Amino acid sequence: MEVLKVVNFWIHLLSGFAYIGGIIFLTLFLSPVAKNYVNDLKFRLFLEEVHDRFQKFSGLFIALILITGGINIHFAHLMRGNFSVAYFVALTFKILFFSIILTHYLLTLKLILGKDKKEGMSEIPFKQPTFILGVLILMMAAFLKHLP
Ligand code: HEM
Repeated sequence: MEVLKVVNFWIHLLSGFAYIGGIIFLTLFLSPVAKNYVNDLKFRLFLEEVHDRFQKFSGLFIALILITGGINIHFAHLMRGNFSVAYFVALTFKILFFSIILTHYLLTLKLILGKDKKEGMSEIPFKQPTFILGVLILMMAAFLKHLP
């Protein structure tokens, strides 16, 4: 049981960091630099390919986060017994923020799957809201760790 708990937690951390880390990279590093090159069609195509690839991998990470997050709840319940009100509130907010990210993800996926050919992209869609929600989710994770 300990091994399952550790492996599950490890997959949760890996997927969470890959997904939120990717969003942080796109928002803080790629987008500000991209602004200087949006007039170049080759660069717009490059940005679109980076974004499409990130979205495709994100599907896997999001599925893993949801499955391992659910299993984490089970183990946290075994370890803590009944959750305190504060723990329950932090967990609810974490799931709420994640659901909003998921909605943005599904909207972007619709854009990607609906297009016939690559036309280039001048900015990453939904980057600011997903960035803020990602940071808030990590804050909720920090609360969960230290709440009874
Ligand atoms: C992008 C989304 C997510 C990220 C980045 C993330 C990140 C994390 C991190 C860093 C921890 C470790 C906290 C610690 O050190 O103990 C954690 C724990 C946990 N996560 Fe997530 N998480 C995400 C989504 C979810 C979702 C959707 C759920 C619920 C379905 C969930 C449920 C949990 C639970 C129950 C724990 C254990 C908390 C405890 O120690 O009691 N997470 N998460």
